[in-house]
Amino acid sequence: MLPDVVAHRGASAHRAEHTLAAYALALEQGADGLECDVRLTRDGHLVCHHDRRVDRTSSGRGVVSTLSLERMAELDYGGWHAEPPEHADDLVLTHRTAKPERLLTLEALLALVVDTGARLFVETKHPVRYAGLVEAKLIALLRRYGLAAPPSKEESPVVVMSFSARAVGRVRRHSATLPTVLLLGPLARLRRDATLPPAADYAGPSIEALRADPDYVARTADRGHDTYCWTVDDAADILLCQRIGVRFLATNAPGATRAILDGGAAGNVAAR
Ligand code: G3P
Ligand code: CA
Repeated sequence: MLPDVVAHRGASAHRAEHTLAAYALALEQGADGLECDVRLTRDGHLVCHHDRRVDRTSSGRGVVSTLSLERMAELDYGGWHAEPPEHADDLVLTHRTAKPERLLTLEALLALVVDTGARLFVETKHPVRYAGLVEAKLIALLRRYGLAAPPSKEESPVVVMSFSARAVGRVRRHSATLPTVLLLGPLARLRRDATLPPAADYAGPSIEALRADPDYVARTADRGHDTYCWTVDDAADILLCQRIGVRFLATNAPGATRAILDGGAAGNVAAR
């Protein structure tokens, strides 16, 4: 079976990460799922943002947890990202084709995804000043959308992920049927016995860890866990994931990744 293609921060190789444009393009490119990171603003709103600070991906400066939603909404999240032009001529004429983009709240992303059939993989970032409040707010939002208690894990449109086993445990205490991924650090040596904490449904190794230990997918499958692998942008890695039975494959270039899974080219898909 082919892995599900999950757009990491949207189609982030071609649009500024965590923007509506990046997620809309991922859906256009046929992504099966969308990945996002969430953090809380000072006034308790869930926003789609990877870094602790806004400096790298916006026109402003500061720590997300110290900024209000209103302040974050004043910033531009697209201008930093140079998108590859459609034609080589444009490369000569313009150095940057980036467009201004607005802040994306998790609620706006949910509204985009709901009814598309794509799954949303929400990663809560830790450590953060608000600790468990992130998961509590996330569950409250999902509850408002009727997504916090799916009939079964397989049918859930939302999956919650974290590198923090405590965060995954908190999700399970809030909801028995919301599926979870325990992400495993980029340099983590994968456990020989491939066990996960009881609150975790899926194993979340990095591609670096799986390259070093590809049998892990089969070992964790023996324990009843499917695998979510991140972040896979190289054709050889994509095909490795397919061969060893990775179920969810997170990539910055969902369109090109799908083409490779469907029998396409080689190389780095994020560079296309
Ligand atoms: O999909 C998991 C992956 O996103 C974890 O790493 O740093 O990109 O959030 P990071
Ligand atoms: Ca992430």
